[in-house]
This record gives sequence, C-alpha cells and structure tokens, in this order.
Amino acid sequence: MLAERVRIVEVGPRDGLQNIKETVPTATKIELINRLAQTGLRTIEATSFVSPRWVPQLSDANAVMESMKSSVDKEDITFPALVPNLKGLEAAAALDVKEIGIFLSATDGFSRKNINCSVEESLERSRVVVEQARSQGISVRGYLSCVIDCPYDGRTSPSTVLAMAKKMLEMGCFEISLGDTTGTATPKDIRHLLDVLLAEIPASKLAGHFHDSFGQAIANVKEAFSMGIRAFDSSVGGLGGCPYSPGAKGNVATEDVVCLFENMGIGTGVDLAKLAKVGTWITQQLHVPNGSQIGMGLT
Ligand code: HMG
Ligand code: MG
Repeated sequence: MLAERVRIVEVGPRDGLQNIKETVPTATKIELINRLAQTGLRTIEATSFVSPRWVPQLSDANAVMESMKSSVDKEDITFPALVPNLKGLEAAAALDVKEIGIFLSATDGFSRKNINCSVEESLERSRVVVEQARSQGISVRGYLSCVIDCPYDGRTSPSTVLAMAKKMLEMGCFEISLGDTTGTATPKDIRHLLDVLLAEIPASKLAGHFHDSFGQAIANVKEAFSMGIRAFDSSVGGLGGCPYSPGAKGNVATEDVVCLFENMGIGTGVDLAKLAKVGTWITQQLHVPNGSQIGMGLT
C-alpha cells in the first residue's frame, strides 16, 4: 500500500513577500527560492505578474522568474506565478512559466479592492486568460479569496463559494485553492464550508489556503485534511498577507504543516530541519518575527 501524502504549495516568495513594507532586494528573493528548492518542496510560487502600481513589492517579477528559468538543477520543481490578466499571462509565457494562478474573490468588495473589478467581470476576464494559457500548454490553478469572510462584505455563504469554485473548474482550472484571506476561520467554519463544497466537487480538486490571523490556521489544515483535502498552501516562517486585506496575518507556516503531517505519518517530502533554517534566515533578512514556533525551536 502506498504511504499517504499531502502536496504542499509553498507561497512564501509570493504571498509572503507581497506584503513586506521595506523593499526586498531581488537577490534575496532569488536566494529564498533557491534555498526553499533545497528542502524537498516541489511547488514554489515564485512571484506575481501584476501591476507594479498595485503591488510594487513584486515589480521585479521578470528578474525573479528569469533566474528560475536558468536554473538547470530544478527541473522537477514547479515555480508558478500569479497572473491577473492577459498582460500578466504574456509576461509569464515569455519566461516559460509552466503554471499560473488566477485569483478571484467570492465577494465583490474584495474583488474591487484587489483587482479593480466586480466578481462577474473577473470571471469574464479570467475565462480568456485560462483559455489562452491552456492553448499554450500552461496549466492554471485557481485561487478563490474570501471563502469564509470578506474584509469589506462580511461573512461569505458557502453556496456562493460553491458556485464560484464550480465556474472556475469549468473554465479549466485544475484545482481551486480556497483562501481564508482574512485568517479568521475556525475548524467549525472549514467543516461547514467543505460539507457544502464536497457534495459537488471532488476533494482532489480543492486545496486549503489558510491565513493565520487568529492562530487557527494549523487547526484548519487538520480539519480540512480530515475531510479529504490533500493539498495545502503555506509560507515559510509564516510570512504573508494581502495588501488589500487589512489586518490579515501571514499564511500558515510551512514548518508547522510539515511537522503536523510528518508526525501523523503523512509524507510531505520536505526536510523540516532544513526548512526551519530557511525560515530563520528569511525572517532575519526581512526583520520580521518568525511565525513558526517549531521553526524557532529547531534553530
Ligand atoms: P487596473 O488599474 O484596473 O488595470 O488594475 P489597468 O489595465 O487599467 O492597468 C493599470 C496599469 O497597470 C497600466 O500601467 C497597465 O499597463 C499596468 P500604466 O499605463 O498606468 O503605466 N498593468 C500591468 N503591469 C504589469 N503586469 C500586469 C499588468 N496589468 C496592468 N499584469 C489589475 C487591474 C488587475 C492589473 C490590478 O488590480 C492588479 O495588478 N492587482 C493585483 C493585486 C494583487 O496582486 N493582490 C495580491 C494577490 S491576491 C492574494 O494575495 C490572495 C491570495 O493569496 C489568496 C487569499 O489569501 O485569499 C491569492
Ligand atoms: Mg493569501
């Protein structure tokens, strides 16, 4: 019998760095990705091809991705990038990006603040992006934000999330990453949401993307796992946050996710000791607290 495994999508270089106030040198970003690539992580989201007016922190996306392109020893690692529109897709495709993430919101308030359009408009825009990406052999992951709560519109109903997730899968996303953008979910909320989603969508098409504002993210990961979810986004050192979700804290720390699953006998493929060193190094470089207790304990 094959041992059970989970797939970890490391989002630190993208979600983690998009919200850092001080300018992070491009060389530090590239070194972060290279160090993460030595830990056993197989999917490392590298950057976003977004408007530099909106997210100046990632305005060096071309340079970061160019450096990944020339990495000869990383052929078994995927370096996806976020793309909001055709302009972003064009930039990503020019750098041979093999996987992109489109990002929509279940709620209009966050959609307008984050990508400057309504949910309906975002669906229309994304359809064209997904179609063009897939015609070029680029696979597309779908991020859906505000699946529990929206900083502008309040609580989100699971039926709204279900309708959006189905539309995104129908348009050609291979998986939907369910974003607790505000980081306010509790395991009860996750169970309630997944009860509704899993009635119509296979667990293999869903992933968890939990921010940790209330310290519940790791419990949410465990809850989602118990309901069949096997893919989780996380960020080394617990970095992260969206500039358009005020007050939201970082993603669940990758160190904590690896520790949880390895102790349950579920494989992650990641070397926790090596990863903890990366978490300590990058949080020192950025002058931010290390968001992983286990990471601090190990280094
Ligand atoms: P807009 O202002 O409506 O777009 O923004 P526009 O088409 O009018 O363009 C404005 C300017 O941006 C123009 O430049 C464009 O050329 C340029 P100007 O003529 O003014 O010099 N531009 C671009 N430049 C580079 N790459 C591009 C691009 N597109 C336009 N792709 C837009 C609309 C979507 C572009 C903007 O709102 C945007 O870039 N938003 C990104 C916001 C973002 O990245 N948020 C964080 C990621 S989402 C997240 O963190 C949540 C997630 O983690 C899950 C969760 O936690 O819930 C995924
Ligand atoms: Mg996020």
